[in-house]
Amino acid sequence: MSIKCAIHLRIPDAVHQHGEPAASLSQLISALRIPPSKTHAFRCMMRVLSTRSTGFFSVQQEEEGEELCYSLTPASRLLLRHAPLNQASLPLLHFHPAVRDYCSVLDTWLLEENDKRTAFEVVNGASFWDYLAGSSGPARELKGLFYDAMALVVPTVGGRESLLFRGVRSFVDVAGGTGIVAAAVAGAFPEMKCVVLDLPHVVEGLPAAGGHPGNLEFVGGDMFRSVPSADAVLLKSILHNWDDESCVKILKCCKAAVSGDGDEVIDMVMSEVGSDDDDLSREIQLCFDLMMATLLNGKERNEMEWKGLFEEAGFSNYKIVGKIGPRSIIEVYP
Ligand SMILES: C[S@@+](CC[C@H](N)C(=O)[O-])C[C@H]1O[C@@H](n2cnc3c(N)ncnc32)[C@H](O)[C@@H]1O
Repeated sequence: MSIKCAIHLRIPDAVHQHGEPAASLSQLISALRIPPSKTHAFRCMMRVLSTRSTGFFSVQQEEEGEELCYSLTPASRLLLRHAPLNQASLPLLHFHPAVRDYCSVLDTWLLEENDKRTAFEVVNGASFWDYLAGSSGPARELKGLFYDAMALVVPTVGGRESLLFRGVRSFVDVAGGTGIVAAAVAGAFPEMKCVVLDLPHVVEGLPAAGGHPGNLEFVGGDMFRSVPSADAVLLKSILHNWDDESCVKILKCCKAAVSGDGDEVIDMVMSEVGSDDDDLSREIQLCFDLMMATLLNGKERNEMEWKGLFEEAGFSNYKIVGKIGPRSIIEVYP
């Protein structure tokens, strides 16, 4: 809740603007217009946000008895309003009432034997994807946060230096959301034909919205039915949303669509206990696994589980070609 508060009050921006080299507590109090009756609570919050484990600010004190001063850390730089890699929507997503409320019923949900619905559906009356298609204020707000938060690995995947798309003349970003990744790829490779396939309500209006590279096209559809043909397809953060049976259906549609090298899957490969993955990557994987299981009936998979899915969908081989933090890039060959 302190992170949510810091984002809404724009504390990182205030530290950035006033903090050369660091912003004092009183400078922040004045910049953010914190009333005197709340200065103690504000100080407490800044302390919590500056511990080693939260790590949103680093704190200095020139001399004993002097005021504490705060400066940005890599984590709070990601929350600066105009940061190219702004990640504020990701924590805000988790504080949205529809997400927060489902997380608070996990105890009763876990004990319910005859209910196949996800915890999200039990609380919100619709599956996650149907909820996002709704027109209520909270649904529109969650949809905005969700698609902003998806921009996560764009710089690594989408740039001209990315090896993923070398030699590919056409590609489909399957369930590519609002096209953030595909737009980066299309901009970096103007000679490539790029298509984003996603649910009609997600891509509605996007082609007309302008501002997209001319070689990028949006198609509204259902990846369980068919995927437009291309040299290669990308599935980024998709298969972990679904159970095995659904994944095999999606992969079969992708296999039918590709005429070239195959699929690029960007998802987590769960590391085994004792592997080389650092503790933080493993912790993120475990938290995502729990979120997928309760939000969507999905799951994170280890390498053997991925292999089983690819084989069942009829692919001949696969190779884990790279890592982006806790996620892996898997090439899958027809
Ligand atoms: C976790 S998001 C990933 C979006 C995008 N790949 C990214 O990483 O930015 C999952 C996407 O699957 C889409 N989706 C869900 N069901 C779908 C379906 N049946 N056909 C096509 N897209 C679907 C959602 O609308 C959403 O954009």
